Amino acid sequence: MLSVRDIETYYGETQVLFGVSLDVRAGEIVALLGPSGAGKTTLLRSILGLTPARRGHIEFGGRDVTRLPTHEIARAGIGWVPDDRRVFPTLTAARNLAIARKRTPYRAFTPEACCDIFPALRHLLPRECENMSGGELQMVSISRSRSGLFPSMMFGFSNVEISCELMGSGTMSSVRPKLSTCSRSLLNASTDHC
Ligand SMILES: Nc1ncnc2c1ncn2[C@@H]1O[C@H](COP(=O)(O)OP(=O)(O)O)[C@@H](O)[C@H]1O
Ligand SMILES: [Mg+2]
Repeated sequence: MLSVRDIETYYGETQVLFGVSLDVRAGEIVALLGPSGAGKTTLLRSILGLTPARRGHIEFGGRDVTRLPTHEIARAGIGWVPDDRRVFPTLTAARNLAIARKRTPYRAFTPEACCDIFPALRHLLPRECENMSGGELQMVSISRSRSGLFPSMMFGFSNVEISCELMGSGTMSSVRPKLSTCSRSLLNASTDHC
């Protein structure tokens, strides 16, 4: 479903990715593990076109997305949960989720559906995000990605255990069923945190 072939990515003159390839099939969860600075986030950014690969190819759902602008890659169905969350701080959680909803060919995740996954989110919906804890913001950020109707989600977690806790479990293995309504996922975790 997602196919990355021999990509090379640079920041200015500095090359960060040297011929990275990976495949994520439908229903699969793939974890990228590596020390800080290894290039995990850069790979996610390359897939999203935020830091486009200078060489190599990226296909999603059989479509070449290597040179597409980020908004078209998002509409193609790739969502991102950045490790620094990037919610709008002065808006409520409900508003952040509403902004993320857009027309795509995929099934919508309503705020209600997100609250079924994260029961703690229910009382957070009317609250401004600037008044939330890190873990609460993580719930909003994950829900926002689901609200965008994305069949594929990419997570950048600087602390996997916190994220697992949010999923209502203590271990990585039990995260999978929680994500099962999402057809494929790419997790990114620093080994120095897990
Ligand atoms: N915006 C940037 N400009 C220049 N170099 C960057 C930038 N972002 C990351 N880097 C560098 O790219 C390398 C990979 O970073 P990153 O992909 O964030 O690593 P990871 O997510 O595995 O910790 C690091 O050496 C980092 O310093
Ligand atoms: Mg990173």
